[in-house]
Amino acid sequence: MEGARAEPIAPEQRGFAKALVKWQREHGRHDLPWQTHLHPYPVWLSEVMLQQTQVSTVRSYFSKFMARFPSVQDLAQAHEDEVMALWSGLGYYSRGRRLHACAKAIVDQFSGEFPKDVERLKSLPGIGPSTAAAIASICFEQKAAIMDGNVSRVLARYLGYEGDLSLSQHQKKLHQLAQQLLPNKAQDMPTYTQGIMDLGATVCCPKKVRCESCPVQKTCHAYANDQVDTLPLKSKKIKRTQKSIFWFIASNALGHVLGGKRAQTGIWAGMYAFPEYDSEEALRAAVPRGVKIRALNVLRHELTHQSLSIHGFASLYDERLEPRAVKRRASVTKPASDAWPGMEGFQWMSMNDWAQVGRPKPVGDFLNQIDQDFQPL
Ligand code: ADE
Repeated sequence: MEGARAEPIAPEQRGFAKALVKWQREHGRHDLPWQTHLHPYPVWLSEVMLQQTQVSTVRSYFSKFMARFPSVQDLAQAHEDEVMALWSGLGYYSRGRRLHACAKAIVDQFSGEFPKDVERLKSLPGIGPSTAAAIASICFEQKAAIMDGNVSRVLARYLGYEGDLSLSQHQKKLHQLAQQLLPNKAQDMPTYTQGIMDLGATVCCPKKVRCESCPVQKTCHAYANDQVDTLPLKSKKIKRTQKSIFWFIASNALGHVLGGKRAQTGIWAGMYAFPEYDSEEALRAAVPRGVKIRALNVLRHELTHQSLSIHGFASLYDERLEPRAVKRRASVTKPASDAWPGMEGFQWMSMNDWAQVGRPKPVGDFLNQIDQDFQPL
């Protein structure tokens, strides 16, 4: 394969797993909340949360989910809105929806028991090859190699793998090599899997690499060949398009804010947000005549492929924003479609209503901004 070093693994590198397992026991992380008992439910929950989010952020979300949904059955039975409300702020919301779908599938298809092998784990929603390998190796001592961003960096450096890891063929090749490095003893798999993640997170970092603390420095190809700063190779940079969107944040005399559930496709699918427009002109045209609005701080929000500027415009109190529906409505389920034409599907929602549904982070940020300004009449 072009650009990649030839296999097989060099004989002096065969001790990788043994050294890593020993290092994990002495220097790895042992205080992560999902490590207390290696039951598949907390391990799966944490692995899904950790797919694109750092440990420091995941900790509190993990604890909240375990407190509210102590078992996969509890999670499967929950309403999607409640699951998404608890997920709010973690980002990549399709993960939250797939998490819920996966819990239901485990209950419906596997009588509530997680399957033990990678193939069946991979058949479940939101469980890709690496997450499947993490669950199978940590909980069931299966010889399955994980391959997330941290791990592929460790292995590309250790093996001197020069293939471009933004290409799937090289990811695949590296994964095959990773399988060859696994411990001989199945019972070492949980420690090994945690160890390789710990090494990537605390020693073999993207920058500020701490080679002096590395248990496999002596046999590391990149260390010996001065390639630590140049490996792994990734040519494809994600290109983000710039986009502006405009939100109308209407509040009424009760301090309730107009919101609605977004379509099930596109960004923030199925989450609650404000009426959205492509331009300030379109927003102004939709605001009932005579209602004054003020611009809030512009929020920037980075998605995988888009860099968003979100322009929020809050209404100033006006009796036209106090439709008859306001006084009648008590819960999220009552629409305020008679607020004014064009607002069908939106509802007046109290801050408590907002807290009970899934909302993108910038929605929460704008709600905080206007909540602080709100003066009851
Ligand atoms: N990232 C993905 N899985 C992890 C785990 N089990 N511990 C720490 N970081 C992780």
